[in-house]
Amino acid sequence: MKNVAVIGAGTMGNGIAHVFAQYGYKVNLIDIQQASLDKGIATITKNLDRQVAKEILTEAQKGETLGNITTFTSMEEGVKGVELVVEAATENVDLKLKIFKDLDQFTAENVILATNTSSISITQIAAVTNRADKVIGMHFMNPVPVMKLVEIIRGYSTSDEVTNTIMDLSRSLKKVPVEVNDYPGFVANRILMPMINEAIYTLFEGVAGVEEIDTVMKLGMAHPMGPLQLADFIGLDVCLAILNVLHDGFGNPKYAPCPLLVNMVTAGKKGVKSGEGFYSWTHGTKDLVVSNNFKK
Ligand code: CAA
Repeated sequence: MKNVAVIGAGTMGNGIAHVFAQYGYKVNLIDIQQASLDKGIATITKNLDRQVAKEILTEAQKGETLGNITTFTSMEEGVKGVELVVEAATENVDLKLKIFKDLDQFTAENVILATNTSSISITQIAAVTNRADKVIGMHFMNPVPVMKLVEIIRGYSTSDEVTNTIMDLSRSLKKVPVEVNDYPGFVANRILMPMINEAIYTLFEGVAGVEEIDTVMKLGMAHPMGPLQLADFIGLDVCLAILNVLHDGFGNPKYAPCPLLVNMVTAGKKGVKSGEGFYSWTHGTKDLVVSNNFKK
């Protein structure tokens, strides 16, 4: 397999395109807006510069990586001749179902269709195609060029052959693939999101402040960053959406999102992307937010 298409040039899509291109694949990067593609390529270039500065890549390898990426605003054009499509569009179920219906028409029947969804059912996405055995989850972690894990999610009908192909392909990207089954939150978010939710409850109930909670988990459990800071990176709206998937999917009150999280998302405080979450990000670094909601 040498030719892949990546749908979506946002944070996850440009990271996935970067990694495939870095390891010699020809990548067609697709987005509906040329401006999004330009932004995606600018981010890839910045992240390649970071790898050159850290002596992970040479200037020549940076050039080759960028040379492996071609951009498209038409999905039909961009998926022509590829052997694999990795969809990394916005996390919206209706949008993903529409994209997979189209992909099923635009690509030859042997093409594998993967999705980077963090919580939408692979089985549900596969069901809108005529090739459910060739639909699979490839859940990359942010920041994609750095994080080693790819969670490989088998839908109800995903074949062994397709799973093995995608496991091997992930290894060719120098990632560590882990095979899991398709149940709400898969493994990564089934464990991560309740921890983040519990950190928010701990804040909400006045047990401790933002920095205290993050410091306990950072220094006490050797996490690279505290759960509240990580929630700001992931996006509080994304955390809320995933908790709702867990809550609805299992029907268990233990997954109910903390009311503080719901309030913050309703107020537009979505973390780094909106400039404020548990921390303020407006100066490019994290500052503490003094909010009535956080007072003990
Ligand atoms: N998302 C986006 N960017 C991140 C990030 C994250 N989760 N974690 C770190 N970064 C960025 C930092 O902002 C920083 O960017 P700038 O240099 O532009 O400021 C850059 O990565 C380097 O970060 P560090 O200074 O911490 O550098 P480091 O080399 O010491 O560590 C790291 C890098 C290994 C990525 C470390 O920061 C880390 O482990 N972060 C946590 C990563 C993580 O938990 N990712 C999983 C998120 S969950 C997910 O992706 C799946 C989902 O479905 C929700």
